[in-house]
Amino acid sequence: SQAGEFAGRVVRWQQSHGRSGLPWQATRDPYRVWLSEIMLQQTQVSVVLDYYARFLDRFPDVAALAAAGDDEVMSLWSGLGYYSRARNLHRCAQQVVAEHGGEFPSTAAVLATLPGIGRSTAAAIASFCFGERVAILDGNVKRVLTRVLGFDKDLAVAASERELWGHAETLLPAHGCEEQMPAYTQGLMDLGATVCLQRNPQCLLCPVSDPCSARRQGRAQDYPVKTRK
Ligand code: ADE
Repeated sequence: SQAGEFAGRVVRWQQSHGRSGLPWQATRDPYRVWLSEIMLQQTQVSVVLDYYARFLDRFPDVAALAAAGDDEVMSLWSGLGYYSRARNLHRCAQQVVAEHGGEFPSTAAVLATLPGIGRSTAAAIASFCFGERVAILDGNVKRVLTRVLGFDKDLAVAASERELWGHAETLLPAHGCEEQMPAYTQGLMDLGATVCLQRNPQCLLCPVSDPCSARRQGRAQDYPVKTRK
């Protein structure tokens, strides 16, 4: 199928050309994966590495983070920016302890009820840690999928964004192939960060350039469509 072909290409590309060896890829501990996803939301990998190591050294598990003082959490975050991330991180840890017995929820739907965890971050954590068959759709992945699909509706319109989420779900690895979910999710992120660049997409390096609608039209720069920011 069209979708199976797409997912298989992304998975194989991730395994040979995607990013690997990063500390949060060596674990399925949702605490560690969650922490990495929050830090990586607006910050480059090279900057996150040091902060991630120091954070885990001081707060090795969610109970340690929940029990910390605001001031200590903020001082370990200092320099990463977007400080609402740190406040939500602390509140999230406290909620996991108070409402989930100190265990991170194992489904995207429940993860998304926690402070600072949106739909895409919840899906990333659930797919990496639990192999849940669930779609991510962050800014980079919107660019990849709108180009591949030639999806030119305005993502500032809620119904259009919802429609793109539906396409993202259609493109997932088939039911029964959940073991591919971590590589598929990481592969989409890595394509968006290293190949399907906003300014100069590296289509010659892309595993899905063949079916990519934007490349075929020579119109990569026209996607995604988003009026008002
Ligand atoms: N940005 C957001 N999540 C990421 C991940 N898992 N790896 C690399 N960059 C990311």
